[in-house]
Amino acid sequence: MKIELQQGDIGQSAADLIVVNLFQGVTAPGGATGAVDRALGGAISDVIAAGDFAGKSGETLVLYTRGALPAPRVLVVGLGEAGKFDLQAARNAAATAGRKARDLGARTVATIVHGAGIGGLDPAAAAAALVEGTRLGLYRYIGYRSQPPKDWKPDPETLIVVERDAGRLAAFRAGVARGEVVAQGVLLARDMVNTPANHMTPTIMAERAAALARETGLKFQALGRAECKALGMGIFMAVAEESEQEPQFIILEHNADRPDLPTVVLVGKGVTFDSGGISIKPAEDMWKMKGDMAGAAAVIAALGVAARLNVPLHVVGLAPCAENLPGGRSQKPGDVFTGMKGKTMEVISTDAEGRMLLADALAYAARYNPAAVVDIATLTGAQAIALGPQAAAVFSNNDELANRLLAAADASGDRLWRLPLYEEYAEAIKSQVADVKNSAGRYAGIGTSAKFLEHFTEGYPWAHVDMASMSLAEEEKPTQPKGATGYGVRLFAALLERW
Ligand code: BES
Ligand code: MN
Ligand code: ZN
Repeated sequence: MKIELQQGDIGQSAADLIVVNLFQGVTAPGGATGAVDRALGGAISDVIAAGDFAGKSGETLVLYTRGALPAPRVLVVGLGEAGKFDLQAARNAAATAGRKARDLGARTVATIVHGAGIGGLDPAAAAAALVEGTRLGLYRYIGYRSQPPKDWKPDPETLIVVERDAGRLAAFRAGVARGEVVAQGVLLARDMVNTPANHMTPTIMAERAAALARETGLKFQALGRAECKALGMGIFMAVAEESEQEPQFIILEHNADRPDLPTVVLVGKGVTFDSGGISIKPAEDMWKMKGDMAGAAAVIAALGVAARLNVPLHVVGLAPCAENLPGGRSQKPGDVFTGMKGKTMEVISTDAEGRMLLADALAYAARYNPAAVVDIATLTGAQAIALGPQAAAVFSNNDELANRLLAAADASGDRLWRLPLYEEYAEAIKSQVADVKNSAGRYAGIGTSAKFLEHFTEGYPWAHVDMASMSLAEEEKPTQPKGATGYGVRLFAALLERW
């Protein structure tokens, strides 16, 4: 689907479908919706008066213009309560309208920008939300099916964003462009996470990252087994040991040649399949562990966004990727390994593998002398117990960084909730035979895993995002079909843009 911007009156558009909107409870529509209502002889007001459409979020109304307007059909999308309207509500309305347009078989769709009226949202942000919401809502993963599903309908060919006021076109143009870049990043991450593990090995992840680097001008490197061993990444390598798949430590850099800019390092867990290893997981739901590389996918995609938006920062993306399998060469509970900076770690569970990849990546991050390091990982089942798929957890040793992330979460729609890094958690991960152990008791599994990671940081401001239950959605939302969410890409985009 192409997205175009046009100056004019949406009522004059000859698209297959024109999209206008209504806040909940409004009985006499104004603006573009009011103009369309008048052209239709009050048809929209009549439906509202009859109580058949109230403008609730998720609600749609289709009307047929029967020659009263150039377009044959009008879609009115509900915006929900005016008092609760925000960027996420704008994305939701766009997603709902986009899907409805597809269901209706519309080829060309003209729309106004939801929520950008007088006293509404910032025009550029509203236009970006329109594009993000539309693209995220229309996303589908067909994967390796030999036939499309029976009810499969093609997306519209063109979405025309229509605005009357010429003075707002520049802001809308910038917003549309930003929305396209961010949506493209989210969809790349979704595709990577939805892809079966046998088609998304560490090597294939590195190829995807290399392709992205060629498209965007990022600097790309990938370190294989021999190079990681030579660097002393004994803890990362312990996870990778049994798999036939070569591990890859992927490094992407935006503005690699700008030592004058502050450096932000993003680190993503890239376990392309997590069987649990010798501490094997139950069979039921194990397939979902194809998504255990969602942190790495978010980091790779976020680097693409940083390059395309040309953010004025040196951004480094580190994605340690490996497959966690049981076998004759596997790490075993009780084994001890030495990390890159000489710290030792005892294995209690081989299923606590994500923190092992991250331990060596956090040590590696120190070489950039970073202003901040943020890691993101599908780290613990305890995250799902604590917060469910409503928000990822964030831990940080630095309030300023934590607040930057919380603000980015608000702006982006990728929700976060801060949890504490209590000193007492350090007790729980003490080992008899090593500096630290990779799993503590039952209490606060999410907090002790964060404390474990903190142990491997090197004095820089650091935050950890545990997104375990955010990576694969079991329930559908307007901007979120079932399956991979692409969580983290929008969060990082907002974090870097507002730095
Ligand atoms: N990848 C899992 C965490 C996970 C669980 C992600 C469910 C998404 C959905 C992680 O590697 C893991 O197995 N964590 C263990 C840690 C435990 C052994 C200390 C867990 O949370 O049970
Ligand atoms: Mn695991
Ligand atoms: Zn895992």
